[in-house]
Amino acid sequence: MDLYAVFGNPIGHSKSPLIHGHFAQQTEQDLEYIAIQAPIDGFEKDVRQFFEKGGKGANVTVPFKEQAWQMVDRKTERAELAGAVNTLYKDEAGLLWGDNTDGVGMVTDITHNCMVPIKDKRVLIIGAGGAVKGVIKPVLDAEPSALVITNRTFSKAEDLAAAFSVYGPVSAVPMAELGESFDLVINGTSASLGGQLPDLPEGIVSGATTTYDMMYAAQKTTFNQWAENCGAVKTIDGLGMLIEQAAEAFF
Ligand code: ATR
Repeated sequence: MDLYAVFGNPIGHSKSPLIHGHFAQQTEQDLEYIAIQAPIDGFEKDVRQFFEKGGKGANVTVPFKEQAWQMVDRKTERAELAGAVNTLYKDEAGLLWGDNTDGVGMVTDITHNCMVPIKDKRVLIIGAGGAVKGVIKPVLDAEPSALVITNRTFSKAEDLAAAFSVYGPVSAVPMAELGESFDLVINGTSASLGGQLPDLPEGIVSGATTTYDMMYAAQKTTFNQWAENCGAVKTIDGLGMLIEQAAEAFF
């Protein structure tokens, strides 16, 4: 039976074995997909052991995505640009490849599952950390009319906008200067995790705005609650992104 795994720390609450188990059932494939908690300082060793024992492929989650990016022999373009790897596999020559399916997963969830268009729309992304870096290129590939990045620490937003400007119309704007509303506002900060909110002007959300929180929770996230109070037409959380990044990795 083919063996797959997800590596993380902690990993106990990962939904990946469940999701990939359903995909395997739906496509009638006989495979085992397990969760492996690698020690914080032992990720690379565990991954190499897994593939030496015949593991076919793996996913990588917090906090190992950057280490995975470092250790692979080859990367897909989207992984190279993301600076992080969430999917590992070996090719026929035995080379270890790293891919990143997070950004495509988010865009698929937004445009396909939720039927919210990105093409020709004004899009705002809040945050400039690892999670945001992974989604900029796939969002630009969906051809927004403008992509604005804002962040508490503005210099990080400027750095990202500069790095990705060859791929599309991306710019950085400080939070206090955001001005008129956007068609789509994506929260890629980790503020929601602690129930906190970035210091956002209400004017970025209008009755025509959809918001997307890359986090998900059993209740509406703090960010989406705020957006709803500002009059957002639709608020979406990141559960669909989790499923779609898994779908792309499974594929
Ligand atoms: P991740 O890998 O989840 O992206 P990260 O690289 O540490 O984590 O980035 C976290 C992001 O959330 C950053 O954009 C951070 O803003 P700063 O660059 O100013 O630190 C943002 N963030 C975290 N907590 C926040 C808060 N309470 N308010 C606003 N932004 C916050």
